[in-house]
Amino acid sequence: MAAPADDRVPCPMAGSADFHYRRGELFCESVSLRELARAHGTPLYVYSAACIRDRYQAVRAAFGDAAQICYAVKANSNLSILQLLASLGAGFDLVSGGELQRLLAAGIDPRRAVFAGAAKAKWEIELGVKEQVRAFQVESPHELPLLAAAGRAHGRRVPIEVRLNPAIAVDTHAYIATARQDSKFGIDLDRAGALVAQIAGDPDLELVGYHVHLGSQLRAVEPYVQAFAAVAAFLRGAPARRLGVKHYDLGGGFGISYGKGEAFPLAELAAALLPQLSAHGLRPMLEPGRYLVGDAGVLVTEVLGHKQSGSTSFVLVDAAMNDLLRPALYSAEHPIVPVADRGRASSTVDVVGPVCESGDFLARARSLPSVESGELLAVLATGAYGISMASCYNTRRRPAEVLVDGASHRVIRRRESFAALWRDELPNESFA
Ligand code: LLP
Repeated sequence: MAAPADDRVPCPMAGSADFHYRRGELFCESVSLRELARAHGTPLYVYSAACIRDRYQAVRAAFGDAAQICYAVKANSNLSILQLLASLGAGFDLVSGGELQRLLAAGIDPRRAVFAGAAKAKWEIELGVKEQVRAFQVESPHELPLLAAAGRAHGRRVPIEVRLNPAIAVDTHAYIATARQDSKFGIDLDRAGALVAQIAGDPDLELVGYHVHLGSQLRAVEPYVQAFAAVAAFLRGAPARRLGVKHYDLGGGFGISYGKGEAFPLAELAAALLPQLSAHGLRPMLEPGRYLVGDAGVLVTEVLGHKQSGSTSFVLVDAAMNDLLRPALYSAEHPIVPVADRGRASSTVDVVGPVCESGDFLARARSLPSVESGELLAVLATGAYGISMASCYNTRRRPAEVLVDGASHRVIRRRESFAALWRDELPNESFA
């Protein structure tokens, strides 16, 4: 139900003013999360369209009209989210043939997409060439003959960006740092010269740019600057390395606050890099995922009960690691707040779900206001890598998703049926 906009109280740690309290109740834009949970059940992902628009415009404002902003589809690949970003003018960064098929299903022109990925299969390369993606980002030599053959079959030169690994350490979780010396991603600068020469010598391939992605959830500008300095030195190494090169794709990785510290200083990054790119005649491309959608989502979950074990107090909720894997996989700390803010005293608890793993927790040793069974909690900043990493482990249905826009909302993914979970399984009649 809509409420007047004048009684908003910011939700601390939400990272976006689109999530705020009105008369003690948490809202997404002008829609009550309690009412959404009542109508659509829990666990429930709720996203703010206004927040996504604002973030996209912030990136656009920092990097200017010439920049190509390619949303990293893996962060949240719901068709409606892709359509929203497409309507804003975004391009797309794909890492699989499945993501390419999502674009097609959403009615988005694949020529707006770049196709990355550490190890593409033949069918993915053939599909990308057929659909004329704007460039393939190549980081493994095995792809070149496949790309050339697909180009020949379709009678066109295939545009290639080479993903370089400038060997730069970044301050983030080890699983999401991608440009360390021994990373599986990118091509070492020592080996990249030969790859570029191979592309330059192949009539079916066309070198159009370079790509670097340092890692995810970064907070500092300096590694991006160091990376481009290394790429610029590489470019000076031989004329063939510059011939036809139009783009520098600086990757994604812009961090959000998760309730602590500042979000990524976009304007500072643009000020540091844009003059250098233009001095080299290169157009900027970027691939933000988390920055565009992370703060735009919350996971609403119901408190099922409480229990004490040893010295630990547990709050048992109906969302689990299958719905939001980040705490279990990266020890990520997502702020959690009660949907009804009644100014209660806090105590230290573990917030855990029903999945049969000790790694199934949403928060550990967290200070949380005392909440009763049946109450709702909101796990904040879960718009990125939430539903897109969700699984059906323990034969749990993945959460439904709702997109709020002002005072209206739409279910953008139904909660799947149980039967859908085993629809493609083939029971063996002879065992019956
Ligand atoms: N470009 C490339 C080549 C990438 O590998 C990624 C993310 C991005 C762009 C987008 O990064 P972002 O702007 O969202 O940081 N599941 C992890 C994050 C994995 C990121 C993988 N690559 C998490 O939940 O933190």
